[in-house]
Amino acid sequence: MKGVILCAGFGTRMRPLTYTGAKHLLPVANKPIIEYALEALAAAGIKDIGLVVGGPTRDQIMEAVEDGSRFGVQTTYIAQESPRGLAHAVSMCREFVGDSRFVVYLGDNIIHGGITEFVRAFDETRSAQILVAQVEDPRPFGVADTRDGRVVRLIEKPKTKEINRAIVGVYAFTSEIFDAADRIQPSARGELEITDALQRLVEDGKLVTAIEVSSWWADTGRPEDVLEVNRRLLHDLAPNIECVTGGDWDAVGPISVGAGTKIHESKIRGPVIIGRDCEIEGCYIGPYTSISDGCVLRDTEIEFSILLPGVQISDMPLRIDSSLIGARSRLDRSETPARTLRFLMGSDSEIRL
Ligand code: G1P
Repeated sequence: MKGVILCAGFGTRMRPLTYTGAKHLLPVANKPIIEYALEALAAAGIKDIGLVVGGPTRDQIMEAVEDGSRFGVQTTYIAQESPRGLAHAVSMCREFVGDSRFVVYLGDNIIHGGITEFVRAFDETRSAQILVAQVEDPRPFGVADTRDGRVVRLIEKPKTKEINRAIVGVYAFTSEIFDAADRIQPSARGELEITDALQRLVEDGKLVTAIEVSSWWADTGRPEDVLEVNRRLLHDLAPNIECVTGGDWDAVGPISVGAGTKIHESKIRGPVIIGRDCEIEGCYIGPYTSISDGCVLRDTEIEFSILLPGVQISDMPLRIDSSLIGARSRLDRSETPARTLRFLMGSDSEIRL
């Protein structure tokens, strides 16, 4: 069985962070989102993995994942020259997949508890299979209507809440999906939808089954989703302190700190993860905060936030909350006597004071 990870999307809803980096490489609990997909496939025994890449983020993803050996898998890169939808991205994999059965994993989805059970079920049915989860508002997703586990109808971005079983971003296919994908038209949003290709299989009388997500699942499309997934992953944080210098600091709750980090005169209230080579001085680091490598924080209070590598923050007048701060950003206070605010911000930045 082969695996395919789709990671060619531009991440427009995550701007400005995605102007300079792929959304699939944003860290949650200090690990790039795409690594959760690689690890889930590897844990389910799928080691031959094709990554569909495209657009400006293609090289970054290839540099981050390389040949896959770090994850115990072997990678093949498949180019999707224009973003024409998930069914189009899957069609690009025809040659890589050949006659194998395969699992498609949307590179911005996180499935807590992995996909091992899902793959085991596919081994038995050997026909198309989707993963579904009950949601309150299904309208941002695709939905599947099922009868006794068999899918009878699928709709992408439904207008009503009538069917509340959302399609989660993991699919299992046989090579029959390629022929179905060849027979669909672009949707209202102008994309060739994988949901429509599956609907074709259903109309052809093919068996498509649905498996319920056993734990939680998240699509990390928007900043608030990324913060929420970070919170949920840190909830399970295994405490681990590699090597910390400094002194006069205390921690309550699970914390993980990477090598080379210095902490001085600070209070940490876990769950909190701090990467390598950071400096934390005179700070309060509150629950559900992930601080990437090389960050420097002085006289700052922060909680429920994610800092990308190399962020520097000092002397903040108020506690930072619910924030996602891009790599190498600097936040400090002006030393001039006038009470002014000074900003140097990229397009689509958001500041709420
Ligand atoms: C895509 C699929 C949708 C699915 C969702 C899961 O939506 O088209 O059917 O429910 O992923 O994350 P998109 O993220 O492209 O809006």
